[in-house]
Amino acid sequence: MTPELRAPRLRFVLTFAACAAVLPSVAAAQSGDVNVYTYREQKLIQPLFDAFTKDTGIKVNVISASSGLEQRMKSEGASSPADLLLTVDIGRLEDAVRAGVSQPIKSAALDQVVTPQYRDPEGHWYAISMRARVVYASKDRVAQNAITYEELADPKWKGKICIRSGQHMYNNALFAAMVAKHGEAKAEEWLRGLKANLAQKPSGGDRETARDVAAGKCDLGIGNTYYWALMMNSNPAQKPWAEATKVILPTFQGGGTHVNVSGVVLAKHAPNPANAMKLIEWLVGEKAQHIYADINYEYPIRAGIAINPTIAGYGALKADSLPLSKIAGNAKTAATLVDKVGFDN
Ligand SMILES: [Fe+2]
Repeated sequence: MTPELRAPRLRFVLTFAACAAVLPSVAAAQSGDVNVYTYREQKLIQPLFDAFTKDTGIKVNVISASSGLEQRMKSEGASSPADLLLTVDIGRLEDAVRAGVSQPIKSAALDQVVTPQYRDPEGHWYAISMRARVVYASKDRVAQNAITYEELADPKWKGKICIRSGQHMYNNALFAAMVAKHGEAKAEEWLRGLKANLAQKPSGGDRETARDVAAGKCDLGIGNTYYWALMMNSNPAQKPWAEATKVILPTFQGGGTHVNVSGVVLAKHAPNPANAMKLIEWLVGEKAQHIYADINYEYPIRAGIAINPTIAGYGALKADSLPLSKIAGNAKTAATLVDKVGFDN
């Protein structure tokens, strides 16, 4: 087909797409569909929505993106088709609230499952699943099986630690927790110590820290709990990275392990709040929580759900007791400190 012939057709497609972006709010309100905006990978969440539709007959439409969904909801305003936003990380949940695209959730069922530590005091977000920020340690070169986050700044680890960017949301939350625990001045000192221990400029993602430990570039990598399980069980090319390392669940001095969450926000202009609430409550139910545990390798937010055996193999998680809202409150300070100490330079 020549470009001349293609052009009108392309214009039609674009026009149709522009209309389609507005139409679902009306269509969805009538049909009862729930429209989910999400940063989560489709393959991770589709099994959940399929099971929900099977249980309830309610269809779920998914719009995935890697960034900008809060802005999109904001610019769509009252005609936004979004019923809920599903995302990972306390920073992103708070971003949505700050953008003004959420509304408070009121649900006794949710309050019963999700402890106050893992939900917004005003109800603007609820955690659905948990992950911990841990250490992937070289099996060959690291003898110890316990460590504190504070110890990561000990000069004994000089040149031995690998980590992704200090501004990545996973590290931001960990550093913000350090600020909440010890205050800004101590956290800065700790961050300088950690930076001094880095084997290389922060780079890559969590899996690459395991790769670099396996390659002997560093002895400790910082990563999330589910990546190690994914490398070990679902990725033959990365399995050797997991096999070369052991997962240590670090704790804060006098505290527990730093936990972050995936969570949900009910959209301010949700066309279908009733069905959206059905989905949110279903997501913390037993069936969904088993899926989070076994397909996503996350810790269930609901008590009494078995943790996946690979994850359980890390040892018993003793989650730190700091409320996530306190961590979120220190996110900006943590980001400023990362720049101040030149962490990523
Ligand atoms: Fe991740």
